[in-house]
Amino acid sequence: MSEALKDKISITLNQNPKPLIPKEEITFGKYFTDHMLEMRWSAKGGWKKPEIKPYGPLMLDPASLVLHYGLECFEGMKAYRKNDGEVVLFRPEMNMKRLNTSAERLMLPTFDTDLVLEGIKELVRLDSRWIYKDEGYSLYIRPTMIGSEATLNMTSSGEAILYVICCPVGPYFGSAVTLLANTEDVRAWPGGVGSKKVGGNYAPCIKPAYDARAKGADQVLWLLGDDHKVTEAGTMNFMVYWINSDGDRELITAPLDGTILPGITRDSLLHIAGKIEGVKVTERIFTMSELIKAQSENRLLECFGCGTACIVSPVKAIIYDSKTYKVPLDPNNASAQYSPLARKLYDQLLFIQYGKSDEYQSWTPSI
Ligand code: PLP
Ligand code: COI
Repeated sequence: MSEALKDKISITLNQNPKPLIPKEEITFGKYFTDHMLEMRWSAKGGWKKPEIKPYGPLMLDPASLVLHYGLECFEGMKAYRKNDGEVVLFRPEMNMKRLNTSAERLMLPTFDTDLVLEGIKELVRLDSRWIYKDEGYSLYIRPTMIGSEATLNMTSSGEAILYVICCPVGPYFGSAVTLLANTEDVRAWPGGVGSKKVGGNYAPCIKPAYDARAKGADQVLWLLGDDHKVTEAGTMNFMVYWINSDGDRELITAPLDGTILPGITRDSLLHIAGKIEGVKVTERIFTMSELIKAQSENRLLECFGCGTACIVSPVKAIIYDSKTYKVPLDPNNASAQYSPLARKLYDQLLFIQYGKSDEYQSWTPSI
């Protein structure tokens, strides 16, 4: 650690580092690394110096605002190990910015994104042994902010804790999923907080996810309005590749109108797809009836979800109004598990995330 950084961040090393989890046992979000970053704020004193310390429980007053009114927001980002051993992050400034936007909406304090990013880099450096060397492994990083003032008054929080924890994740190459288009529950709505990564958006989605599983689906396809606008899938942005009414091969996804999360994977894939010849990229509102029409006219080419945790997740069927609509995976390969455009985007994204692309070096700053 440089002398300059020592002035900005304090570090207490974990004297009892845990044994690494065998690779086969890694499951998303279950095992955590040896250290965490913590930075406390109070209305009187502002932000204190960030501290990196051994991973461990937080002490919270049972009256803390987060425990009663859900004053919490979070991020999901990853660190990757390149072939030469160097560790890089993926577009981390976007996560920092989005966390500040979410915090603002909850009247939690905003923070110096450069400082927190420096802290995250140092945390990842200290815990980098948790990024397994084999292909496809990475470190999932979860920055979180909570309102910790002890009061049952429904007010903004005079105290906050920003903390960052990390867990190892293995290669993810999900097989194609079935979505249940949910016509009862709504994830987000105009004027709501669907575009913010606040915990309050996630708790109400757990039951619909279980209900979808009970009906034979893997995830929920979230709709909006009487016309069933297609928004997101599970905790992913949702993309459709079809031949549109003009005969163009079009990759279409819902626009950033405040009802969907502005996904960093979404933004990256739109950027990458925009450079593929013959693919038109469109962000606009579209509905279930358009999707079903394209399917019935054999114009539907692929559907997939995308996000930091799942990367790219191809869709093989959508259940809507008790009917199951098959989504092609690959018309040229009956046993295909991954649709061709989804696969291409997945491969290109991973190539970039592992720092292999000269063109996108600016997306993968080293730690
Ligand atoms: N939509 C929701 C509701 C999410 O929770 C996520 C995951 O973070 C995404 C979309 C994808 O966003 P990102 O690509 O930034 O991970
Ligand atoms: C992510 O993709 O990073 C997420 O945040 C998903 C998580 C809610 C499981």
